[in-house]
Amino acid sequence: MKFLALLAILPSTAFAGDVAGSQQIPLGSSLSDQKPIAQSTYWYETINHNGEASFMQPSCKSGYQVFRNVVTDFGADNTGNTDASTAIQNAIDAFASGSSACAGRAANAYGTTGQPAMVYLPRGTYQMAKSIQLRLGTVLMGDPTDPPTLKAVSNFPSDHIIFAKDPVQPGTNNFYIAIKNLIIDSTNVDKATTIGHIDWTVSQATQLTNIVFNMPNFSTGHAGVTVALNYPPPPDPSGFNSALILNDLTFNGGATGMILNGQQWVLKGMSFNRCNTGIRVNGFNVVVHNSSFTDCTTGIDAHGVSGSLTVLDTITTNIGTLVNSGDSGNARNSIILENVINNGKTVVLDNSPNPPLTGNVPNTWVHGDMYAPGNPVTQFEDGRFLTAKRASALTVNGNNYFTMKPPTYQEFAIDQVVNVKTVTNLPVRGDGITDDTANINSVLLQCVGKVVYFPAGTYMVTDSLIIPPGSRIFGDAYASAISAAFSTKFFNPDAPTAMVKLGNPGDVGVGQISDMLFTVSDVLQGCKMLEVNMAGNQPGDVGIWNSHFRVGGASGSKVKTVCSTTPDRCRAAWGMIHLTSTSSAYIENMWGWTADHDLDGGPDSVQDAPVIAVGRGALIEATKGTWMVGTGMEHNTLYQYNFNAAANVCSVFQQSETPYWQGPGSFGLAPAPWTEHLQPSDPTFNSCGSEDAQCRMAWFELVSDSKDIFLYGGCVWVFFNGGVNHDCQGAPGICQQNAIDISNSTGTHLYGTNVKAIQTMMISDNVEIAFRSDNDGSFFMGGVVAAYLFNSA
Ligand SMILES: *[C@@H]1O[C@H](CO)[C@@H](O)[C@H](O)[C@H]1NC(C)=O
Ligand SMILES: *[C@@H]1O[C@H](CO)[C@@H](O)[C@H](O)[C@H]1NC(C)=O
Ligand SMILES: *[C@@H]1O[C@H](CO)[C@@H](O)[C@H](O)[C@H]1NC(C)=O
Repeated sequence: MKFLALLAILPSTAFAGDVAGSQQIPLGSSLSDQKPIAQSTYWYETINHNGEASFMQPSCKSGYQVFRNVVTDFGADNTGNTDASTAIQNAIDAFASGSSACAGRAANAYGTTGQPAMVYLPRGTYQMAKSIQLRLGTVLMGDPTDPPTLKAVSNFPSDHIIFAKDPVQPGTNNFYIAIKNLIIDSTNVDKATTIGHIDWTVSQATQLTNIVFNMPNFSTGHAGVTVALNYPPPPDPSGFNSALILNDLTFNGGATGMILNGQQWVLKGMSFNRCNTGIRVNGFNVVVHNSSFTDCTTGIDAHGVSGSLTVLDTITTNIGTLVNSGDSGNARNSIILENVINNGKTVVLDNSPNPPLTGNVPNTWVHGDMYAPGNPVTQFEDGRFLTAKRASALTVNGNNYFTMKPPTYQEFAIDQVVNVKTVTNLPVRGDGITDDTANINSVLLQCVGKVVYFPAGTYMVTDSLIIPPGSRIFGDAYASAISAAFSTKFFNPDAPTAMVKLGNPGDVGVGQISDMLFTVSDVLQGCKMLEVNMAGNQPGDVGIWNSHFRVGGASGSKVKTVCSTTPDRCRAAWGMIHLTSTSSAYIENMWGWTADHDLDGGPDSVQDAPVIAVGRGALIEATKGTWMVGTGMEHNTLYQYNFNAAANVCSVFQQSETPYWQGPGSFGLAPAPWTEHLQPSDPTFNSCGSEDAQCRMAWFELVSDSKDIFLYGGCVWVFFNGGVNHDCQGAPGICQQNAIDISNSTGTHLYGTNVKAIQTMMISDNVEIAFRSDNDGSFFMGGVVAAYLFNSA
């Protein structure tokens, strides 16, 4: 009932009623030094940014502006003549107030989600005399029509130009941070000086995209992106930060393009030119997709990849070696290459003068453990060519998987973009209180063919939002949330209602969502958070980019406060995303997170161990062509990924973790607390003993009644059972019995599958096939299988 009680609180009305494109009242620092800037045609720069941080106290909220233009609000010099770093930092840190209740972003008074900031850089050159420090919830975004340049001065005083990781939290808890549409330039700094452009020690629900890193040619000291392991202070006991995807980045010059440390990475759309090493990476599960390396000595230094390195759809020109790695002689350090063009040395192991692979890989090459079609015996392959073909529904330009950059809609003029909060006679509040369902649905229908911009805020809905063909939705990233409010519509666990429907079944057209968050404000066992029904005329017509799910763990939801006891009291959502049989979608950068810890703190938080029983992660029943790049699903009760009666699916990377309230000594044996509400597509866990707590834990992946499924770079990490931070009870080092179940399916290809602390990796038609102990590698107590093709025939 918190929802109703809050109705009495009036939201900020500072911008209410303004029309799109109207002049915004700057709330920033002095404007006396403001310099004229060339007018951009980018709609995002001029549209009315009447967003809000919905869950601040009203007295703080009214003075808090999510959007900040570094030039017009904070006086940054974009002519390149004087230092701009101080003004940019001021824009990042605003709006602090004298009172501690409204303390500024640097003080982190509102946790991770409470003080979002869209820091916008108009075109121009910004001289950087010192580094800038982002805070949790910061998006640093340039004008994509003419990306602004951040140019380091020659005597730059620090080892990084941008520190993205907020030091108030370890890297594993740095969520909701983005940097996009920029050029970063260190060419004035001596080429031997050790300097990185961006320290990116962050985790999921982050975005680093559309950035050019310009460094001196033949540099010995410069790097574009670096990611620290165990970043001080304070030392993070788990040590490994947990990002999912970096995409569409160009590195020119430099000693090393990227120096990465973390659990897993998918690196998509990367271009490296004139470097010593393109990527030096430590991690367990690494995928390089749709990338190019030109004039570099080494493409990928994978000595630190203890699980699997998968390289897909990649082209090199004039390089020394594409992959340089260690040779464990067993599953560890697996390498999978597919559709790779390279002259000369393609794979070198332990610097051996006799490379195991030279030249192109038209289909697939694997080094590591393999399960051949129909053969349950593990085979170690030193380097073997495979010829399995990709499904033609998934490929373009010959044999490449379709990929796409996140849309910016820069080709749309301002009069083709509608701010959802400014349509006459259809008030939409996005205030975390008002029911916006009907008016958003009307605006969407009115705006077919246009872009609909959702400024920062929380848009409460009590029934389905229906996105019609012809829709393009663009939010303020992690600050723009659609949240299901209490409603009987969202309460039937046997017949769930979608909170957002991307099309109705059978719809064909354009349906795109970028930079939105999906959440629930109450415990809603019949809420399916997103259902995708639409297909496009072209691949990518239907797509979702940098859009994420969050259930619990943050302000603005009863889930944060009530889910502390037993899972049957907290069926907080039916499931996260459902790709139905009529859909065909491209999905890139999506983290489906049921909270296993709290992000915001405060007196009402269930700090360490929320017990939240969201039923399902991703249910994929699509057949017409589905591309998933860089997704993660965590802590859902029955499964993280379920490919059911699906076909023609390419998933480049699936990351997951189990709900930690499951397992021995805990509160619930799966399928509880959903036992009475299972759907035909759900797992029954009937093959587990009734009290076998390690067996009755969420599946990482289910594949049933499916064909032509291509899964690259899968990983499931289990760190605890019987509660967060509890050491696993059960066989030494083993936290969970099973990971993946495949039944009645053909053409199922899994390349680079990693587990931690799970005994049985793959089960096929009720027979255990692959065990962790036969494929030792990856994480501590882990297993890795380079190619699982048992069900591929
Ligand atoms: C690096 O070399 C390329 C190709 O010759 C050239 O276009 C570029 O200007 C050089 N970069 C610098 C910073 O000198
Ligand atoms: C990456 O994908 C895009 C879009 O499909 C394509 O144009 C480009 O050639 C691809 N790059 C590589 C290196 O395959
Ligand atoms: C096996 O899957 C096919 C679809 O590929 C389906 O038609 C059939 O009913 C399934 N068989 C069983 C026994 O479930």
